[in-house]
Amino acid sequence: MFVKHLLPAFVAIGSVAAQSSCSSKTTTINSQDDVSKISGCRKVEGSVVLGSESGATIDLTGPREITGDLIVRNNGQIQNLQSSSLESIGGKFEINNATSLNVISFEKLTSATTVEWVSVTRLDTLTLGPLTKAKSVRLSDTFLNTLDGFALSTVTDLKLDNNRRLSKYTSELTSLDGQLVIQANGLSLEVDLPKLVWITEMAIANVTKFSIPQLQVVNGSARFDSNFFETFSAPNLTHTEDGDISFVGNGFLKNMSFPKFTDLNGGLLIANNTGLDRVTFFPKLEKVTGAIKLRGNFTEISFPSLDNVKGAVDISSTADIRKSCEKLSEFAPRSQGGDGKIEGVFTCTANNDKANEDTDQSTSGSGQVDGSDENDENSASGVVLNAALFGLVAVAAVASAL
Ligand SMILES: *[C@@H]1O[C@H](CO)[C@@H](O)[C@H](O)[C@H]1NC(C)=O
Ligand SMILES: *[C@@H]1O[C@H](CO)[C@@H](O)[C@H](O)[C@H]1NC(C)=O
Ligand SMILES: *[C@@H]1O[C@H](CO)[C@@H](O)[C@H](O)[C@H]1NC(C)=O
Ligand SMILES: *[C@@H]1O[C@H](CO)[C@@H](O)[C@H](O)[C@H]1NC(C)=O
Ligand SMILES: *[C@@H]1O[C@H](CO)[C@@H](O)[C@H](O)[C@H]1NC(C)=O
Ligand SMILES: *[C@@H]1O[C@H](CO)[C@@H](O)[C@H](O)[C@H]1NC(C)=O
Ligand SMILES: *[C@@H]1O[C@H](CO)[C@@H](O)[C@H](O)[C@H]1NC(C)=O
Repeated sequence: MFVKHLLPAFVAIGSVAAQSSCSSKTTTINSQDDVSKISGCRKVEGSVVLGSESGATIDLTGPREITGDLIVRNNGQIQNLQSSSLESIGGKFEINNATSLNVISFEKLTSATTVEWVSVTRLDTLTLGPLTKAKSVRLSDTFLNTLDGFALSTVTDLKLDNNRRLSKYTSELTSLDGQLVIQANGLSLEVDLPKLVWITEMAIANVTKFSIPQLQVVNGSARFDSNFFETFSAPNLTHTEDGDISFVGNGFLKNMSFPKFTDLNGGLLIANNTGLDRVTFFPKLEKVTGAIKLRGNFTEISFPSLDNVKGAVDISSTADIRKSCEKLSEFAPRSQGGDGKIEGVFTCTANNDKANEDTDQSTSGSGQVDGSDENDENSASGVVLNAALFGLVAVAAVASAL
């Protein structure tokens, strides 16, 4: 108690007379008293590690910079971790398995190379500088309902998972050159990335809204699984540079929009989104370097601008899509009677009750979706329509018209 009361005064004196830097590979803090080892240093050259029996409150006020890591692991005692001076952590700010920690307050902290907080299950009060510079951020299994402490405009990797109270995430991100993973957070998480222009990889699951109004390029892949949104819109997305786009098991999805999307340098997989009854939202899609695989309750499918698909086109619907199949068969390989815009095998199956059971993500590369075993089984009850057949139908129609 006595020490705590004295602490602010001590720190003030300490910082006036602050040593410019203190060097020690690792400073271990087992109690508030131990903080005096570093509280007189402006800069701590090395890492700071909290022991697992630190007590309930640790105030690290003193240093402005820790060049190494700040680590809290397997600590069931700490409830309140704070510093009113720390601006930068050169390495990792790691908190792992600190299940009593509910307040983190670093009001000046704006920079850390990595933030990795995992199993901080009670954490609900967070104050940061805000943090504007970080390469990698992972927040897993916290009790946070807002990420206002983070104001990153670029980041390499960002992973948000199992934050069950998180209901809204709006970010200033303009680009992300590693991976964005968002999954298994609150059942009504709305994600808004209003400034995001390009992103390398993303895997998004279990969100109710995902907004990317400025996104122009996905350099790698974009994957959307088991989300709760009814509509998905990528109004400014023009192409992917090297990767697939997939939407699987988004049970509420009714409508999508990709008005400017022209080039998919990878494959397209749309499967088991049972409310999605049309795939008519790629008005400008010209080129696909992988395969196209569509499975669902579709009544209509069209790719009006399609010019070249290097891989297979493999479509199966629970409903009657024979008209769409017939139209698409015009693009089939020459060996199947089409004009060859599709280079891989063209398959289109209507009235297949089991269309939604095949969600295999095998659309990448220039190879063909392996159509053997899975399709035989899945198309057993359906009507397989192929281009050769349409060739015959078309010829027959012409013949009878004559
Ligand atoms: C988490 O930390 C507690 C101590 O607070 C420890 O007893 C427990 O074994 C740790 N859990 C894991 C998975 O390491
Ligand atoms: C992603 O694509 C954009 C636009 O072409 C480009 O500016 C950016 O450098 C690319 N990012 C990576 C990591 O390749
Ligand atoms: C969350 O998404 C995963 C797929 O990444 C899925 O397996 C899981 O069932 C989903 N959970 C809910 C509640 O939708
Ligand atoms: C697409 O991006 C442009 C340029 O940044 C912007 O003006 C426009 O509002 C965006 N479109 C949509 C539908 O958000
Ligand atoms: C299809 O999606 C539903 C959720 O909409 C899910 O329950 C089911 O397991 C999925 N089926 C397959 C084969 O992925
Ligand atoms: C689908 O979305 C597009 C663009 O957001 C919109 O113009 C169209 O009316 C929507 N269609 C349906 C059936 O909701
Ligand atoms: C999708 O098709 C399956 C198989 O025909 C059917 O059981 C299911 O009710 C359909 N779902 C919707 C939302 O139309």
